[in-house]
Amino acid sequence: MLVEKNLPLQPFNTFHIVAKAHALVRIHDEADVQGLLNEPVWATFPKFVLGGGSNVVLTGDVKPLVLKVEIKGRKLVGETAKAFIVEVGAGENWHEFVAWTLAEGYFGLENMALIPGTVGASPVQNIGAYGVELQDRFDSLDAIDLHTGKLFTLNAAQCAFGYRDSVFKHSSVANEYEGQKPIGLKDRALILRVRFALPKLWKPVLGYADIDKKMAEHACLKPTAQQLFDWVCEIRRAKLPNPDVMGNVGSFFKNPTVTPEQCEDIIARDPKVVHYVLADGSVKLAAGWLIDACGWRGKSVGQAGVFEKQALVLVNRGSVSGPDAATGGEVMTLAKAIQTSVYERFGILLETEPVVV
Ligand code: EPU
Repeated sequence: MLVEKNLPLQPFNTFHIVAKAHALVRIHDEADVQGLLNEPVWATFPKFVLGGGSNVVLTGDVKPLVLKVEIKGRKLVGETAKAFIVEVGAGENWHEFVAWTLAEGYFGLENMALIPGTVGASPVQNIGAYGVELQDRFDSLDAIDLHTGKLFTLNAAQCAFGYRDSVFKHSSVANEYEGQKPIGLKDRALILRVRFALPKLWKPVLGYADIDKKMAEHACLKPTAQQLFDWVCEIRRAKLPNPDVMGNVGSFFKNPTVTPEQCEDIIARDPKVVHYVLADGSVKLAAGWLIDACGWRGKSVGQAGVFEKQALVLVNRGSVSGPDAATGGEVMTLAKAIQTSVYERFGILLETEPVVV
């Protein structure tokens, strides 16, 4: 088992923050994890699972043992009356996987094209874009318990998916109240493979303003999956920064949900607030709009900045490969200042989307 010491993590996080892993092991299959758990030094040592690094903010060197997931492979493993079941290794790049499904004739993931990161991170975050969330196409996943080395499989209900949320984001440590069971699998499970159920009778998921605009431009009423894929790539390239050029982790905050009464109160003060009524009657607000309304677009703290074209995205204005990059401290100072001003003006506490390490 090769343990790399003091390894720079700047290439392995899409914010390109400068930080080191005290120790890092590359995981190619479950045997690598089991081998590690058999080594007395590492068996009980705290561990941190790293995928594509597209959803973490590193605020310093990482002391737990970093498990860098590099499990590969993608194949059709079965089918039901309604769906093709495709299995993919957690270390595969998400966007390349989506492109592969289309090339193979399996449709349904095209609205989530160009989301940065790996397949293994996709259920953790329940990634989503343009009306499709991972949970809509999810079948099951295989994972390994980092305490016992046991393999297990979870279905969608067991993953407890929510908006950018799952069982993998919640602590595995039982809290102090006696009798309470650990509720989550954070730092406990390493996802090995994910299976997707991709519909045989595919229909395009439409209804987003940006997609409607593309349909009008191309005078197209019923796009193919490939067209949707291409349009989503164009839309994202036009308004989101490419992490290889300008470090970022996508949306930095979740879009908050409020009660209809809270929304009325905000509308009375700011009639232009962008909001969407959800099926259960609650109202989702556009966090990007709230941040923008507080005047944050284009502002910076050190090398950490608010992206000019989308206030929901924080960026590294410094280098992606050198020492002059934004620090995790600068990013979090900026994030906290944004949270404070949105709270003071709208009474809403924005929740961060990435995991802060
Ligand atoms: N807006 C502003 N100013 C801004 C940014 C946005 O006024 O600076 C307004 C826009 O004009 C629009 C509204 O806010 O009316 C929503 O903006 P947008 O359509 O860009 O979508 P979003 O709500 O900001 C969400 C997801 C994205 C996903 C898109 C498309 C979250 C936190 N973000 O963004 O996901 O790609 O919808 O479905 O749910 C991610 O999670 O990392 C991510 C990029």
